[in-house]
Amino acid sequence: MNDSPVNKIYTAITEEKARTSYPEGFPHLPEVPVGRYTEPEFYQLEMEHMWKKSWLHAGHISELPKEGSYKLFEQLGLSIIVSRGLDGQIRAFHNICRHRGSALLLEKTGTARRFVCPYHAWGYTSDGKLQTVPEERNFPCLDKENRGLLPVRCEVVRGMIYINLNDDAVPLAEYLAFEGIELGDFPLEDMVVKHEVHVEMDCNWKTALDNFLEIYHVPVVHTKSIAPYLDAQSNIIDLYRHGHARLATAKRGATIFQANTDAADSLGPLFKDHNIALLRFPNTFSAIDPVGFAWQTWWPMGLNKSVMVVSVMGWQGDSEEDRAFWEGMKQQILAIAKEDQHLFAPLQRSLNTGLLPNMVLGYQERVLYWYQEQIDRHIGVENIPEHLRVKQVLADHTSD
Ligand code: FES
Ligand SMILES: [Fe+2]
Repeated sequence: MNDSPVNKIYTAITEEKARTSYPEGFPHLPEVPVGRYTEPEFYQLEMEHMWKKSWLHAGHISELPKEGSYKLFEQLGLSIIVSRGLDGQIRAFHNICRHRGSALLLEKTGTARRFVCPYHAWGYTSDGKLQTVPEERNFPCLDKENRGLLPVRCEVVRGMIYINLNDDAVPLAEYLAFEGIELGDFPLEDMVVKHEVHVEMDCNWKTALDNFLEIYHVPVVHTKSIAPYLDAQSNIIDLYRHGHARLATAKRGATIFQANTDAADSLGPLFKDHNIALLRFPNTFSAIDPVGFAWQTWWPMGLNKSVMVVSVMGWQGDSEEDRAFWEGMKQQILAIAKEDQHLFAPLQRSLNTGLLPNMVLGYQERVLYWYQEQIDRHIGVENIPEHLRVKQVLADHTSD
């Protein structure tokens, strides 16, 4: 056997299934302070230092099919235009007019070959320059050159669009380099967003995210929907720098989504035989299936409120049959998520009582610990009150 990524996974899975005790040399995970899920101070630290400095998923190129196509990124109290300019380039701007601050675009998606403010009709080009000001004579000192739209960093990798509010962040391609190891030549860029669904939840964003980063609960919560298709005992995990991770789990024959599996076959044994799930820090998760899959993100709407955005990723096609298939997949994804979801609000209520100062995590829950460590590195450990910090123990256990 050569040591190609696929063969490494087969070998690691065989070893994992044979494992009878805690892996030697792997740190015991310290407990996680519950205050990270309940204290306003920690929420503020995340807002200031983590969300405003991380690469954040903002869409897929298929959502901006032509010149002038746009969508609004409206999370974290922001409104950001993500658009394809008349030159074909994808850019992002704050959705804020430089006159008196009106939002330029009010519809969440659409086409705008220029951006014309709905308030006093200042007009901007698709690359963000202030072009026209009605009754310009009344603004004697206006420097139009310096009144363009406020740009937001925006980069695209494998067709996925990300934004970053921090101009000093590492380039997206470097940030997501681990995808090269894990996805090989999986053509994410050829996919199409078939549906986008927003699901609001009464819990901290991490309470919801945690659930998707471990397979420990699958045999209990997803007895009929996922458990028959995945061999939970085979679950192997690789941690990557920047807080990313990959979970691989052997499939038991059939795929969760019943479908013609030509696409699966064409993409080779890695994705056909395994469920390959990736966490891209901080909040983007997808369990890649060549048939089609859910691309999920979780966003805070407050300390105890969050929203999960599910994009159903599929392949080109526009027949009646095709539409019915993706609608079916959407329903199936939402039904599976529902099996988890009803647990979150009661769980959050438990955390909010303060009766549980810490959470205990097992080896198969180490991705939960890993991303918490990364949050602290973003915030700066010294900026976090001691009772809310996690110990840094996993940095020497990454695969890159
Ligand atoms: S606020 Fe946009 S033109 Fe006045
Ligand atoms: Fe689940």
